[in-house]
Amino acid sequence: MPHAPMAPWNNPSFLFLLALLSLMSSASQSSRLFREYIGAESNCLSFLDVPIHPSVDFHFILSFAVDYTTSKHPTPTNGDFNIFWDDDNLTPSHVTSIKQSHGNVKVAFSLGGDSLGPGYVYFHPFSIDSWVANAVTSLSRIIKRYNLDGIDIDYEHFMADPDTFAECIGRLLTTLKNNRVISFASIAPFEDDEVQRHYLALWRKYGSVIDYVNFQFYAYDASTTVSQFLGYFEMQRSNYNGGKILVSCTTDRSSSGGLSPEHGFFNASRMLKMQGKLDGIFIWSADDSKSNGFLYEKQSQDLLASDRLY
Ligand SMILES: *[C@@H]1O[C@H](CO)[C@@H](O)[C@H](O)[C@H]1NC(C)=O
Repeated sequence: MPHAPMAPWNNPSFLFLLALLSLMSSASQSSRLFREYIGAESNCLSFLDVPIHPSVDFHFILSFAVDYTTSKHPTPTNGDFNIFWDDDNLTPSHVTSIKQSHGNVKVAFSLGGDSLGPGYVYFHPFSIDSWVANAVTSLSRIIKRYNLDGIDIDYEHFMADPDTFAECIGRLLTTLKNNRVISFASIAPFEDDEVQRHYLALWRKYGSVIDYVNFQFYAYDASTTVSQFLGYFEMQRSNYNGGKILVSCTTDRSSSGGLSPEHGFFNASRMLKMQGKLDGIFIWSADDSKSNGFLYEKQSQDLLASDRLY
């Protein structure tokens, strides 16, 4: 019987080459998305203060628009949103000019946040239909006035059950996308039973309109190790199945901290990049990073932009 020619997939050096090629392509196909929250702490910060690497996709996320009154004792407005970011330094003309000078910059904004002054911000709709109608109207106006590209959902306290939250936010995002008012949407959950119940209900029903999961890994304990961090990442990847999970760190000293750059945040990010799992990095927040010269913003973007195989 003639000897069959050896198929390439039986050849060890061919297999090695294949493995190398797939590793290289997973690293080069990795996302280059860097996102950063800005404006929550009224720090007289402008977009121009933040270093922007020319070969990443850069999203500023203005924080926050909230459906509360702007009075001394803010109260819920049922979906009628007001701006609470530093709108002296982050104005519509600033948005337009940063986008004109940097073709790789998009500007989004975030809804909710943890607190306003001394009180928590609650997600507190009076009914699903009325909240969605008010939110679509008020947010469309804000988005047009500021020339914004996307929206982030960051409610952290709830006076509504998970299904109501899912319906309100899901219908809002669906409508804004169908109307072509926004081109992308993200959510910002963290590890907490109540928070995860709400965001997972939203993800299960409306995951198809959510482009990124800005998971707040910095809400984990400051003692988090690299291997624990990688475990948390896998856990959230399976919770938000099929989603683009961004890793994150914080420069806010008042936050729990999670895995910090000093303790290996970039080591963990590099490992995920090598495995083709790094869908981007975000930082909370530009306001807090000013004092260290935006060091972690530079390191994050260098890591994302690099073609090196670590
Ligand atoms: C992270 O990487 C740096 C440089 O490669 C290394 O010196 C450091 O020990 C690593 N840290 C951890 C926690 O793995």
